[in-house]
Amino acid sequence: MPRILIAGCGYVGQATADLFHDAGWEVEGWTASAESAAKLSDKRYPTVAVDIADTDHVAAHAKSFDAVIHCASTRGGDVALYRRVYLTGAGNLLERFDQATIVFTSSTSVYAQENGEWVTEESAAAPQHETGKILRETEELVLSHSGIVARLAGIYGPGRSALLKRFSSGEATIDPQNDHFVNQAHRDDIAAALLLLLSRRVDAVQIYNIVDDEPILQSECYGWLAAKLNRPLPPVGGSASGRKRGRSNKRVSNAKLRRLGWTPGYPSFSEAMQGSILPSFEIPGT
Ligand SMILES: NC(=O)c1ccc[n+]([C@@H]2O[C@H](COP(=O)([O-])OP(=O)(O)OC[C@H]3O[C@@H](n4cnc5c(N)ncnc54)[C@H](OP(=O)(O)O)[C@@H]3O)[C@@H](O)[C@H]2O)c1
Repeated sequence: MPRILIAGCGYVGQATADLFHDAGWEVEGWTASAESAAKLSDKRYPTVAVDIADTDHVAAHAKSFDAVIHCASTRGGDVALYRRVYLTGAGNLLERFDQATIVFTSSTSVYAQENGEWVTEESAAAPQHETGKILRETEELVLSHSGIVARLAGIYGPGRSALLKRFSSGEATIDPQNDHFVNQAHRDDIAAALLLLLSRRVDAVQIYNIVDDEPILQSECYGWLAAKLNRPLPPVGGSASGRKRGRSNKRVSNAKLRRLGWTPGYPSFSEAMQGSILPSFEIPGT
């Protein structure tokens, strides 16, 4: 029975751990806090609080694994936290599990293209922000140790959609000057892609984008939600986040992953919303 460590058993990590377990893998999940580990105590696999950025802590909990997925998240945070969780965390996992295939869940945010062009794994990945540069540094570290980099698009799924949250809370605005493509991936499609990558024993030192089939303009997402929920369109105005300049605008291709045989269960925004996300959300006033 192959053994896998899910280092960062959060939103994506849990779904991934469940899927590997169902597929017959022996699974262990790590979280940062004891509270999060305790919340997972009903899982059919062990979950332990281990800080991947703490070399001694990792060493104390090290066992033999065939594969390790680094999907711990800083949940935002500053440069120091990025360095700690992504770069130091990956370094510790690579050092301690040098016999395992390591997968790092990076982000499609590393593509800084601004003109709505399609990007593939071959395209330049030159993020402007310091946090993005740390993700790239971590990617290079993992690739240099024959690992796999999975670049995840914006994660959504049951109980999670940043766009739907903004729309339903009334915080959304449509900004025609700064409309841009949104690239997203459903949680369960990400888990399926990770299982495929590690079951197929794909060539190491590879990068794969994990994203649905249809990048969609943010204004179209809001238009779709307005029609579906019978609500007015969000007002025209500047983005509340103020993140305009230097924001990327690109369409991320999943062709490389699809060539391996991965097919998203939720290939588009509308299919994910209708089939999974809207039924899981409490929408005020509905
Ligand atoms: N959010 C997005 O749309 C997006 C887009 C692209 C890529 N990603 C990447 O996708 C991955 C998964 O994200 P997610 O949304 O599933 O994350 P999440 O729900 O926030 O879960 C993160 C998990 O990592 C654990 N963790 C954090 N720091 C840790 C540490 N130092 N040592 C061990 N575990 C640690 C957390 O434990 P606690 O609960 O105890 O804190 C939690 O279990 C991350 O690598 C993220 O950067 C996210």
